[in-house]
Amino acid sequence: MIENLQIFDWELSSEDSEKIGKIPQGRTLTGLDYLSPIGPYRTFQELWDGDLQFETTLLINKHNPPVPDEVTKDVVLDAVEVGYRHFDTATIYFTEKALGKGISELLKRGMVKSREDLFITSKLWVSVGHPNLVVPALKTSLQNMKLDYLDLYLIHWPVSAKPGPPAYPIKKDEFLPFDIKGVWTAMEECQRLGVAKAIGVSNFTKKKLKQLMATATIPPAVNQVEVNPTWQQKELIDFCKEKRIIVTAYSPLGGPLGGHNGVMGSDILKDIAKAKGKSVAQVALRWAYELGITVVVKSFNKDRMKQNLEIFDFELSSDDHERICCIPQGRTCDGLDYTSPLGPIYTIEELWDGEN
Ligand SMILES: NC(=O)c1ccc[n+]([C@@H]2O[C@H](COP(=O)([O-])OP(=O)(O)OC[C@H]3O[C@@H](n4cnc5c(N)ncnc54)[C@H](OP(=O)(O)O)[C@@H]3O)[C@@H](O)[C@H]2O)c1
Repeated sequence: MIENLQIFDWELSSEDSEKIGKIPQGRTLTGLDYLSPIGPYRTFQELWDGDLQFETTLLINKHNPPVPDEVTKDVVLDAVEVGYRHFDTATIYFTEKALGKGISELLKRGMVKSREDLFITSKLWVSVGHPNLVVPALKTSLQNMKLDYLDLYLIHWPVSAKPGPPAYPIKKDEFLPFDIKGVWTAMEECQRLGVAKAIGVSNFTKKKLKQLMATATIPPAVNQVEVNPTWQQKELIDFCKEKRIIVTAYSPLGGPLGGHNGVMGSDILKDIAKAKGKSVAQVALRWAYELGITVVVKSFNKDRMKQNLEIFDFELSSDDHERICCIPQGRTCDGLDYTSPLGPIYTIEELWDGEN
């Protein structure tokens, strides 16, 4: 008590204040306990009136080509050191075990006080996208990570394939009709059992969300979809906001380096970045943040991880937003791998329900 009063006989320099200003931000008390799938507050966004900082500090946990588990584990430690608290994995990334090792190490070293300080997301793969296989699949993910619960469990794609171990690409003769109602009911069971605090979907169109919500007793908390300046998804975002579904942007920088270069190579983004003294990646992430959506950005490089968090000290003008709106549009992830000449989804137009 005495120590806490002894703050009036010395001062911080402006340099000290500047340094403190750069500490990565995140709430200590996230307010999770005050959210409920049945309201009145269903999302952090509602509870904190749109302050999304907690949900924006995300790191995706996937590397292509695959790296040894030890490398991924060290990346998890680096990420927490620079300020990330949310890890997004999936059964098909084959990183759950490495993430689990990272989490154990974080707790052992005291880098986080408890499991509750982390937010862990994983995703149901299509070969277990069958009503009776959902709960067991989540339990396998938990075993892989040595966890008791996930913070968020997502249906990875609105697609089913022949039951079996996770494999990608999916054989063209192994696709099966997707039982949206049955699979979602099983996802709801995961939440009721307490093994997933929240449930959601990924790669769902407005049409599929409507279909799902027509029978859902717990609405999806999240729809994780591609969003970046080259695939802006305005209509889907507006729809999700109206339905109080949090949109999480994947491939916010346009996907893996060396792939389609529309975001990182955009002259418009380069111009804005130069004017702001920021990188193109920071402008792309800030743009998504200003849309009021959350982001999962992947980096295995500590400097870039840090850079990707430094987006809270500048703003984009309405003129910047207008210029970004004009960037030519196209998906990075077209979903062709989820279609088959043997059906049930024959074309990418069908997969995306002709939206956008
Ligand atoms: N739900 C789904 O169906 C789905 C589909 C696709 C992707 N995703 C998820 O979304 C995550 C993120 O998307 P993504 O990996 O496709 O793409 P992304 O996050 O847009 O871009 C990742 C690439 O950008 C590089 N990078 C990161 N920060 C950078 C920076 N500041 N400057 C320059 N380059 C930077 C990374 O390389 P370094 O690691 O070397 O920094 C990596 O090559 C994925 O890891 C994946 O898990 C989900």
